[in-house]
Amino acid sequence: MVRTPFLLIALLASLFAGCRKGNPGASEIVIGVAGPMTGDQSKLGGDVERGTRLAVEEWNARGGINGKKILLSVGDDQHDPKQAVSVANKLVNSGIVGVVGHFNSSASIPASAVYNGAGVPMITPASTNPRLTDQGFWNVFRVCGRDDQQGKVAADLVGKQLKLKRVAILHDKTTYGQGLAEEFRKSLAAYPEVTVVSFDGITQGDKDFRGILTSLKGNKPELFFFGGVFPEGGQLAKQAKEVGLTAPMLSGDGVIDPKFIEIAGAAAEGTYLTFTADPEKMPQAKGFLEKYKAKYGNELAPYAIYSYDSANILLTSLAEAEKEGKLKDGKRVAEIVRNVKYDGALGHIEFDAKGDVKKSPYIVWITQNGKFEEFWKPKE
Ligand code: ALA
Repeated sequence: MVRTPFLLIALLASLFAGCRKGNPGASEIVIGVAGPMTGDQSKLGGDVERGTRLAVEEWNARGGINGKKILLSVGDDQHDPKQAVSVANKLVNSGIVGVVGHFNSSASIPASAVYNGAGVPMITPASTNPRLTDQGFWNVFRVCGRDDQQGKVAADLVGKQLKLKRVAILHDKTTYGQGLAEEFRKSLAAYPEVTVVSFDGITQGDKDFRGILTSLKGNKPELFFFGGVFPEGGQLAKQAKEVGLTAPMLSGDGVIDPKFIEIAGAAAEGTYLTFTADPEKMPQAKGFLEKYKAKYGNELAPYAIYSYDSANILLTSLAEAEKEGKLKDGKRVAEIVRNVKYDGALGHIEFDAKGDVKKSPYIVWITQNGKFEEFWKPKE
């Protein structure tokens, strides 16, 4: 067996190449990108990595930052809070000067404390739980909206637009899923004619939800809300139909992915989802979409564009800091991020004092003919 040692050496070499220790060379800059790169949400982590990588490649093609090549260190948190902390520590030890990520709020919140302690700015493209920026960390930014905004739009759909009277609420007990479900319920209080008939948690990773869906059906809801991500969202939409629950599902940004339709099949039809407006209709997103599709194919990747803008904002700020000789001064880099007026693929982005975007207009989508279509825009 001559091949085994060679394979082993190759494997070890690639492992070492993958986890850079200590400081990068003087002619290199390392930024991190983190999310669920493997496991059931790997499509989402992959979108974050692809969007970030595209930005990094473009910067490097233009000469990097002041001639320094930008390297990307990838962290796989598997949407697990503990793993997120360990990944954040590894990225910090590899010498990153900023990070795009993480994806899930349950990962971003614990990881943000690690980056804060290490003086590293982070920009998440996707973590929407209010607590992330409400913590008051100087180093934390997000390019997406917040679940208090998203939950309100979901409640307005139910109370104002669909004028429903009975809704059931499910969530996946995670920071994001439960948080969004609670924000939805809170905002429904503005519609006293709407009764929340139940509020229950399911367990992430479970595959069979027929029991809870059957008991939910007994309460005769006209719609059921799900706070969570597409692996469970897809099964819930599918199994709801199987147990004869015909009420449509309403969910959020964690579910709006082609994988949801792949899992739920025909049962995905009629599902409402809150997210931001369609980039395909935004002139400023055209360039990004063309480049992204040419490189990675046509598959819809809702958060890739957020990751691309996050990376570009981080790199623009690092370039500014480099001019001042402060590339490794995380506080200065964060100060620059906080003051950017950035026109990116998503349009104009500015941050408020907390690190939230000043504008984040959520709308409601519907699943129709195996695709996501814009359905309803609340009045601004
Ligand atoms: N918006 C989702 C979260 O915060 C992806 O976890």
